[in-house]
Order: sequence, then C-alpha cells, then structure tokens
Amino acid sequence: MLKGKHIVLGISGGIAAYKSVMLLRLFVKAGAEVQVVITPNGKEFITPVTLSSLSGKPVISDFFTANTGEWHSHVDLGLWADAMVIAPATASTMAKMANGVADNMLITSYLSTRAKVFAAPAMDLDMWKHPSTVRNLARLKADGVDIIEPEAGELASGLSGKGRMEEPQNIFDRVASWLVSPQPLLGKTVLLTAGPTYENIDPVRFIGNYSSGKMGFAIVRALSDAGARVKLVCGPVNLPTPEGNIDRIDVVSAREMLAVCEKEFPHADGAICCAAVADYAPASCASSKMKREKADTITLELVKNPDIAATLGKMKRPDQILVGFALETDHEEENAIGKMARKNLDWIALNSMREKGAGFKVDTNKITLISASGVRIDLPLMTKTEAGRKMVEKIFIDEKADS
Ligand code: CTP
Repeated sequence: MLKGKHIVLGISGGIAAYKSVMLLRLFVKAGAEVQVVITPNGKEFITPVTLSSLSGKPVISDFFTANTGEWHSHVDLGLWADAMVIAPATASTMAKMANGVADNMLITSYLSTRAKVFAAPAMDLDMWKHPSTVRNLARLKADGVDIIEPEAGELASGLSGKGRMEEPQNIFDRVASWLVSPQPLLGKTVLLTAGPTYENIDPVRFIGNYSSGKMGFAIVRALSDAGARVKLVCGPVNLPTPEGNIDRIDVVSAREMLAVCEKEFPHADGAICCAAVADYAPASCASSKMKREKADTITLELVKNPDIAATLGKMKRPDQILVGFALETDHEEENAIGKMARKNLDWIALNSMREKGAGFKVDTNKITLISASGVRIDLPLMTKTEAGRKMVEKIFIDEKADS
C-alpha cells in the first residue's frame, strides 16, 4: 500500500514514545521507507536500537555522528520525505515548531521539509489546555500542519482528560490515506465569494436574489479536499460550512463583502468570485420600518454597487489566479470573454441560463471554462459537486503542473 513512500517519523520526549514503535511497525509493514528522527529527550523514553532494528536504518538524533564527524543533512532528509509524522509531539516540540526554534535535528528537519506534516500531540491535560499550547496549536494549524488531536482518557500522570496520543492505528490510517491520495494544493490559500448579497431598504426589507450558494460551497469542498486553505466570504445562505481548513466570514451586503475581500486577497494565492453580488443598493437605508399607509407608490433610488471581481482584478499580482463566473442569457461567449477582460480575470466560468439543469437553485450545472490565454473547456452537465472538482482541477491543479 505504501511501497515507494518515504516517511520521516519524528519522536519527541514523552511517555507516548512507546506507542511510536507500533506506528513505525505499521508504516514498515505497509511497505513505506521510514527514517526515524528522535529528539535527545526522546531517547530517554525509547532506545534507538529498537527503532533502527524495526526501520532498518540508523536512527538520526544529532547533527553529527560523534566519532566520524559525519553531518546529517536535515535539508536532504526534508526533501526526501513524502510525509513527516511527529508522534508524539510534546508541548515543547510543538512550541519549537510553532516558533522555528531549530535546536535539534527533528525541528531542523521540520523547517526544511516541503512534505506534508502530521503531528500527534501528547501531554498532560493541563498542559494541553494551557493558553500557550492553545496558541501554538493554532499557529501550527495555520502553518498547514495536520494535527491529529489527542484522545481523552487515563494519562501517565494518573489524571484523566484530553492529552493521550491518538492510537497508532488511527495515526497510520490518517497518514496512509493522505499518502495514497495526496493534496496538490497544500500550502495554498484561496479566497472565494459565495451566495447572494442583501442590500437593505429598511430594517426588515432588502433587495436580493435567488443564489443558493451551492456552486460556491461545492468549489470550497473541492479546494479543501485538494489541501487548500479556503477563506470563504459568504452572503446570506442556508448552508453548513463544509469540513476542512475553511475560514468562513459571513457578510450581508456587497460593500461588506468587498471590504473582507480587499483585506484577504493580498494573502491569497488566488480568488474565485462566485457570489451573485447585487448590482445596485438603495441610496440610503431607512432607519425604521417604512409604513405602507404613507404612500400609494414609492420610488427607490438605487446606486451602483462596487464590482468586487474588478477591484480584485486591479489588485492582482502576477502570481495570483483570479476566476469569475458569468451567467448569461444571450451572446453568452462574447459577453463572458468581455467580462473576463474588463475585470482582469484569468478564467471565467460561463453558465448559460438557456441550458437545462444550469443555474441558481438546482443541484446540477453545465459550465464552460474560458481562460484569458484562449483555452476553452466544455464541461458536460454534472452535479455542482463534480463541477466544483473539475474547475479546481483544471484551473488550479493542471495549471500548476503546466507552469
Ligand atoms: N461580480 C462581483 N461584484 C459585482 C458584480 C459581479 O464580484 N458587483 C462578479 C461575480 O461574482 C462574477 C462576475 O463578477 O464572478 C460576473 O458577474 P455578473 O453578475 O455576471 O456580471 P456583472 O458585472 O454584474 O454584469 P451584468 O450583470 O451586467 O451581466
């Protein structure tokens, strides 16, 4: 199952280190090549002889082999690895990882690796709850480390609570399933707008549209499954946030959506403008409910909303990819290409209102992807989930492989 896969198993100094022997055995049995890197404290809990016998490789702990002066290259090790698994990750190792304190071979290897990193923390319950650990954990997650959370149960201290390292079989399953189907967008951040915007007329009424947010959420799932971190800026929709590395920021109006996008776009590798942004908003919003008996007819003065996609198009750096949608009823392709140029997009996803099964409320879509460089991809009618996957694959993954 894991034949040809290279794993760096990092062991730090906690009582759970004895479980790492089982984890190592599972990796080796599955056919992976494993290089164990152990911290000086780790050696107090488990002997390198046990680990090297099981892995078939000398265990690395020091920067140099004492008697020969041979240097162990953490850079080579980092590049060799397909995955790095730090189990157990003690509070101290987590703190060093979060802050780049490279004072042992495990941390230098961590800082040098381009591979996906998993960490399985293990510590006493109060250490796990300490604000310092909470802070470090959040930082590691933001850095893209996949945290395999500890379980609750009896701890070495005799206390009971959360802090026990996850069982080796479960750690193995998480790592193995990732190695079998890897995530090409790991380390990338994509901003995505979804849903409608509501433009308030008074405290109880608004101008809006029928966008359900389903297409945007399908793309969010596809991005997250491919390993990307997603900043989801979302108008009023009735959809739960998908599982994954997703920060959801709920907004109501186009102006609120724009403000979040302007702040987040510089930190992203790309953006997909999927929201059905209201083109106009009332010039002013009444502070109390407008009363019906006051007038037989009313006129609303509307002002043009900012164009979010076009604003991002002006801010775009050459390394960023910007994608928009076009929902057209006639002269579809011509209008879509015009929109792409006006907004400085790299790709536009065209859905025609004339196509059966495409549009706002349904679960299917029929999309044509057109790039600024002239590529055209006609996707067949498919579920929005499949369409989201295809879009991510064609625009973010194939594109990356080509460049
Ligand atoms: N868009 C946006 N901000 C707006 C209007 C549109 O970010 N104020 C984005 C949409 O999310 C979509 C693309 O621009 O990705 C095209 O949206 P669409 O409504 O088709 O285009 P408009 O520019 O509004 O043009 P029109 O309504 O005249 O066709």
